[in-house]
Amino acid sequence: MSSSTDTAMKPTPGSLAIVTGGSRGLGKVVALALKAQGHRVVIVSKDPSRAAATAQEISCDFRAVDFEDFDATRKTFEEIQSTFGVPEILVLAHGVMSDRLSKTLRTNTEEWRRVMAINLDSVFVAINTICPAMAEARNGRVVIFTACLGRMSGPGNTGGLAPYRVSKAGVNALVRNLAHETNLGARGFLIDAMCPNHSRTDMGGPDAPRSAEEGAETAIWLATRPFTPGEDKTGLFWEDRQIVEW
Ligand SMILES: NC(=O)c1ccc[n+]([C@@H]2O[C@H](COP(=O)([O-])OP(=O)(O)OC[C@H]3O[C@@H](n4cnc5c(N)ncnc54)[C@H](OP(=O)(O)O)[C@@H]3O)[C@@H](O)[C@H]2O)c1
Repeated sequence: MSSSTDTAMKPTPGSLAIVTGGSRGLGKVVALALKAQGHRVVIVSKDPSRAAATAQEISCDFRAVDFEDFDATRKTFEEIQSTFGVPEILVLAHGVMSDRLSKTLRTNTEEWRRVMAINLDSVFVAINTICPAMAEARNGRVVIFTACLGRMSGPGNTGGLAPYRVSKAGVNALVRNLAHETNLGARGFLIDAMCPNHSRTDMGGPDAPRSAEEGAETAIWLATRPFTPGEDKTGLFWEDRQIVEW
């Protein structure tokens, strides 16, 4: 007798995982965990020497590129794919916070463009470059770190940090939209957004209530969970392994 566990999709042992933001913080925790589970890992971040040092620590590969440069970002993901093959796991854990006083009526075009470019546009470029082959392989998982500050409900878009909140709301919309375009997991391609909650990283600061390991846990689970099409859900926003309203 077969059970849903027998028919569930799982990542292939040893398969390729790409983790952006893998040089530090939450992305580094994800990269370490996927490596420990036996995946081949490539981290992608901005500062070449930090990426190299982290890659050496984790024993993984790395590429360094500034996600504000869309052409260089696309070329980097194309090169990763031609060198390492099609990933089964893509975790997008990079991001920047906007300036503390960046209210809509006070911020400026440069700050708006910087945050949108890194937090939202580069997510599109990464997905648009890497995911067609993942979707065609019918075996792919995309997990994106967004933020509760990007939700349209709860504490989401309630003012302040405008470029950051709006960029994350855009990512949430992109996730939902692409999930529907790919039939909500029915074709073996999963995409989910998650919020790590306030975690102790360079972005979250030393006084945040959660460790980076606690913050990254749901992303690692989403990237590796067994998934039964028609039974399990994708295309959603997750927090502590629970589905929350956008
Ligand atoms: N920490 C929190 O409390 C919290 C809460 C909610 C959501 N999040 C989200 O979780 C994700 C990870 O946050 P974190 O706390 O781990 O951040 P972090 O410690 O500040 O690390 C940021 C990562 O993004 C990379 N990055 C930044 N700008 C880049 C650029 N222009 N090009 C390429 N890579 C770039 C950094 O690379 P370099 O090392 O080379 O600079 C680094 O790997 C972000 O999307 C963030 O918005 C975090």
